[in-house]
Amino acid sequence: MSKKRIGILTGGGDCPGLNPAIRGVVLHAAAHGAECLGLRGGWKGMIEADASPLKAEAVEEIILKGGTILGTSRTNPYKKENGPAQVMASFKKLKLDALVAMGGEDTLGVACKLFDDFKAPVVGVPKTMDNDLSATEYTFGFDTAVSVAVDAAERLRDTGLSHSRVMVLEVMGRHAGWVALFTGIAASADYVCLPEREVDVKDMAQKLKAAYARKGTALVVASEAIKLPGAHSHHKEIDDFGHEILKERGVAERISEVIHKETGFETRSAVIGHIQRGGSPTLFDRILGTRVGVAASELALSGQFGYMVALRSDRIVPVSLKEATAELKTVPLEWLDLLDTLTAGMAGETNRHVKSAKAGV
Ligand code: F6P
Repeated sequence: MSKKRIGILTGGGDCPGLNPAIRGVVLHAAAHGAECLGLRGGWKGMIEADASPLKAEAVEEIILKGGTILGTSRTNPYKKENGPAQVMASFKKLKLDALVAMGGEDTLGVACKLFDDFKAPVVGVPKTMDNDLSATEYTFGFDTAVSVAVDAAERLRDTGLSHSRVMVLEVMGRHAGWVALFTGIAASADYVCLPEREVDVKDMAQKLKAAYARKGTALVVASEAIKLPGAHSHHKEIDDFGHEILKERGVAERISEVIHKETGFETRSAVIGHIQRGGSPTLFDRILGTRVGVAASELALSGQFGYMVALRSDRIVPVSLKEATAELKTVPLEWLDLLDTLTAGMAGETNRHVKSAKAGV
């Protein structure tokens, strides 16, 4: 009898943890007498049947490597002529019994649609540094990205203190503020701007003045997609999945200007951008990547398709791709309240946002 064969692809933005996850699938498959093929460049690889064998010896040492050895793209087969049909033809051509698709809402959205439309034998692995998939408690990539951002914030604090400046750090996160939230809390920022709510400029200025009076510096962490009052909408370039391509990361500079105008303090800003997406995965991301990879191979080999493996209460469990891609996980009110309590406490104020936040729950 021929060996079972699993295809693996990585789609969307890369992040640390993908290689540990690929390794998890390949080693589990090898331990169960199955073999793996790596698709090149996400769904593009399935459209073009561009694949090569992935043997255990090739993945043995990749647990410490950032990025993805398979390459990635933001290709959406549903936006290409005959794309879905070509993907389904590649299952046959490459003799795949199953496909493990690793990605965020977009890549998994395609997997979900292929399962619905053609009963494609797909299993999803959640990946995103944004941590914005609602069906899983954490996604790999997030822990590493935040660790990089915290390091950057601490470096900014040193130079801010030396020059008596207010420093603003811009982090990624597209539609969700998780990276900014965790960076802000872990780096003890004096103000954190999140896409989940419009920046309250007066409140921010007040907090920064109080911080500056105490320390002679202040630190702001801002998510790339925040809303600033009075900001104009500009021409937007859109990707295959309908998302704005955020090429000009410039929110930090705009906030710096606002802060200078409101407080008179000298300000400087920094954008760490894609630096957050590179580098060796942290311990957490290596372990989570490995666990979800192994679990995905288990589902694939036992013929359980249409699921994504998710982290829930420290267990890896299957959830349907439909549920997994139904809605994005944005920062909820209880986290906003916690953040406001910390920043209010540092500024010597009471948390005036608590009431409205609680009332909205
Ligand atoms: O979704 C992950 C992410 O890193 C977002 O935080 C960011 O906005 C986007 O990808 C950047 O995409 P690209 O690598 O295509 O510039």
